[in-house]
Amino acid sequence: MSVSKKTKSLTPPDITELKGERPIVSLAAYTTPVARMIDEHMDFVLVGDSVGMVMHGMPSTLGVTMDMMIMHGKAVRRGLQKALLVVDMPFGSYEQSPQQAFENASRLLRETECGAVKLEGGQAMAETIHYLTQRSIPVMAHIGLTPQAVNIFGGYKTQGRQEDANRIIADADAVQKAGAFSVVCEKIPDPLARKITRQIEIPTIGIGASADCDGQILVMDDMLGMFTDFKPKFVKRYGSLGEQVAYIAETYAKEVRERSFPAPEHVYDYAGD
Ligand code: KIV
Repeated sequence: MSVSKKTKSLTPPDITELKGERPIVSLAAYTTPVARMIDEHMDFVLVGDSVGMVMHGMPSTLGVTMDMMIMHGKAVRRGLQKALLVVDMPFGSYEQSPQQAFENASRLLRETECGAVKLEGGQAMAETIHYLTQRSIPVMAHIGLTPQAVNIFGGYKTQGRQEDANRIIADADAVQKAGAFSVVCEKIPDPLARKITRQIEIPTIGIGASADCDGQILVMDDMLGMFTDFKPKFVKRYGSLGEQVAYIAETYAKEVRERSFPAPEHVYDYAGD
């Protein structure tokens, strides 16, 4: 029997243990080729339900289904060796009851071979997080701006600027007590994110939060600059691939129209390869 030399993947406890050691690095990504390119640089890769907006042009994450999460989860799984794979639970797949959450979370683990699921909500989801973690399902929580609650919030607004700061602190505390191995803090004031990070023992993963969070996450396509019409303050564009793609498509179209592509080196003769 041959012994596989497969790289050991990071696990949820590995992520928890990184708190206080070094910053945790993660991206939301959705395809095999991208997962392959980023794997060695990431601690975890999230297949976020942002896939609905980023890859499928949906107006919000509310229309994302379990089947979509499973399809993209499997795709990313094929591209990862080292980074932990976390898959989002889509809207409507976990809120009804802890039992409903277990049924869908266990399906995500079984079918995508992810190491953990992520779900949105603090105190309201504590019972569910406890139920899942007691039944062998590692959970990453998500508090602050939880995009699945866009209709309750009345938009994608910064959370925790007023009295709701205390609610967000209580949310962080509740998900930790319920057994979450880490918590995403989205679009909350820098000092609030810092306070929560100091106060709880599980790692905070910031997105629009604070450089003092225990880790950071961005959506891959935002970071690459794939969109010219979407640039929230918390996104740093490390490239402008959207403009490059449009320029490349324009150049290709021009060359096809003037018949300079394909050139002799791109076509086959009766002999040769
Ligand atoms: O869906 C997603 O990509 C996310 C991250 C932005 C945290 O939840």
